[in-house]
Order: sequence, then C-alpha cells, then structure tokens
Amino acid sequence: MNTDTVIEVAGLHQRYGEFEAVRGVSFDVREGELFALLGTNGAGKTTTMETIEGFRPAHAGTVRVLGRDPHRDRRAVRPHMGIMLQEGGLFPDLTVAETVDVWRDVVPGSRPREEVLEQVGLADKADVRVRQLSGGQKRRLDLALAITASPRVLFLDEPTTGMDPEARRTTWRIVRGLVADGATVLLTTHYLEEAEQLADRLAIMHEGEVRVAGTVAEVLAGHGDRIDFRIPAQISVAELPRVGGVAPRVSATPAGPVATYALTGCSVQGVLRELLDWADAGRLELAGLQVRSASLEDVFLQVAGHPAVEEEAHR
Ligand SMILES: Nc1ncnc2c1ncn2[C@@H]1O[C@H](COP(=O)(O)OP(=O)(O)OP(=O)(O)O)[C@@H](O)[C@H]1O
Ligand SMILES: [Mg+2]
Repeated sequence: MNTDTVIEVAGLHQRYGEFEAVRGVSFDVREGELFALLGTNGAGKTTTMETIEGFRPAHAGTVRVLGRDPHRDRRAVRPHMGIMLQEGGLFPDLTVAETVDVWRDVVPGSRPREEVLEQVGLADKADVRVRQLSGGQKRRLDLALAITASPRVLFLDEPTTGMDPEARRTTWRIVRGLVADGATVLLTTHYLEEAEQLADRLAIMHEGEVRVAGTVAEVLAGHGDRIDFRIPAQISVAELPRVGGVAPRVSATPAGPVATYALTGCSVQGVLRELLDWADAGRLELAGLQVRSASLEDVFLQVAGHPAVEEEAHR
C-alpha cells in the first residue's frame, strides 16, 4: 500500500444471505483525493461504502482505512471518519441546534455549533425543528453532523439527493473546501455532473462490480469523440462512407435518421475533412453536423447495458 493511500479496497465481496451484492471490488483513494462511486441502482455502492465505514466485516477481500481494518479496529478508525449515510437518522422533534449539540457531545474534537451550521448554510435555522426542514435542508444537516469534527476521511452517500440546483452547488463548494483543507472523500452520486465537478477519480459500478474507473478524462478517453449529422434525404444508409476506417451507426431521432461516427484513435480533423469532401462531392448538406466528446452519460449508459445509448444521445 502506498503511504498516502487512505482507503484501500481489494477484491471485496459482500453478501446478504445468498445474494452477493458486491463481487470483487477493488479501488483505492489517496490522501486529499475525492473519489466518486457511480452506478446503477442496486449496484452495490452503499454496501461497499458501509463496509469501508466498518459497519460490517468484508465477506471476502481486504478493506483498509488509514492502514487499519475499519471493522476490527473500529475504535481507532472511527474518530477519523465523517459519515453521511444515504438515509440520515435525524430526530424530528429536536431543533437544528439541539441536533448538532447532541452529536457534538458524542464526537470528540467537535467544532463550535455556530461554525458548523454557518458552513452548511443553516445558521438561520438553528431554532427550527428538524421536522420543519425541507428535504434538502435535512441533507445539509446530515452533512453538518458528518463534518462537526473535521474528519480526515469523509463518506458522503448521495449527499445532494433532494437538493435544488443552487443548494447542490453550495454543497459542492463546501465539499471542495473540505478537500482543500486536506480531507479525503469517498462520495456516491447519481448526478454525473456532480462527479464531473468534484471527482479526482471515479468508478462506475454495475451488478456488484467496478466496470470502469479512472479520472474523468481517462474514463472518457476510452470512448473517443463522436461526429453526428442527419442523413441527407437524397442518400440511403448504404451510401454513407466509412471514414477514418469507421462505419457509422445509424439511429432514429424525431428529426430523422442520424449517422454517428464513434472515433477512437483517429484524428477528428482528418475524419471531418473526409466527410466534408464526401458531402461536397455529392452536393449534400450535413444538417445538425456536430463534433462532441463522449460524455460521462454515454459511458454510464453503456456500462449499465442500456440498449439505446445512441438513440438517447440524440433526443
Ligand atoms: N440489508 C439488505 N438485505 C438484503 N439485500 C440488501 C440489503 N441492502 C442492500 N441489499 C441489496 O444489495 C444490492 C446492493 O444494494 P446497495 O444499497 O449497495 O446499492 P446502491 O448501489 O447503493 O444502490 P442505490 O443507487 O439505489 O442507492 C441491492 O440489490 C439491494 O437490494
Ligand atoms: Mg445506495
């Protein structure tokens, strides 16, 4: 293990009875890094995260946090962790201030209540009862509890679910601030933009396995660029050229059939020139012509085994 590895997961398997929810997951998170776990519903993200948090022993494989087994050495590791569960467990009858105070009593090294509430933008809600908070505000209170003691390792399971776009951005700012102050963060999210905005590296899980991992750039690099245009009415699909050694994929869209060239390992400029020369020679207009990078959504849908990735991309 590298000395700067904070979270290490190697060959992790986790079961619920006969059902194997996590099937050999490996990744590591280095100090000061934000790592995002993405994936389909039921992919095993929360199960993986809760195992790293030490709530249950690994069925097989190794999990280390700060060099220790988070389940067996829970007493030593837990004080360094801030945990925001997917389902927070707040008491509805307590006020926001009371909730933070109760938590501060049990967490050693907690910061002043006002400072924490200020940080998550709930300072003006201190005297409001939890039951009167909106869903997004409750999520912010969950975050406040996770960061009362300035943890070295922060676990955020869908931290911005239920938040409006502005509150989500506020949360991103908070999380970036925590990372800038040296925290190491493991986060799950269904918002791909959230991962793009925050993650140094990410993994996309499906059916208990990590299917793709790396930096956003690395994950996208394997999927190349795309060139799309609507197929001119004068020509048939069979008349579309191969360019750069690539045949197009054709998909139906409300605006008509679209040709998509998925380019990997060839120059976009060269392919585009070939296409434009072909169109000029045939006096064809390539309506809707665009060059775009494969998006994280393209990759996610591919990983999820979505049957109509290309069709969806054009809607
Ligand atoms: N306590 C449990 N008992 C039995 N099965 C469980 C339990 N918790 C989770 N599972 C199953 O394990 C699988 C993984 O669940 P998990 O909550 O880890 O997924 P997830 O990736 O976090 O999904 P989501 O994006 O919906 O939060 C699912 O099929 C789920 O039904
Ligand atoms: Mg989950």
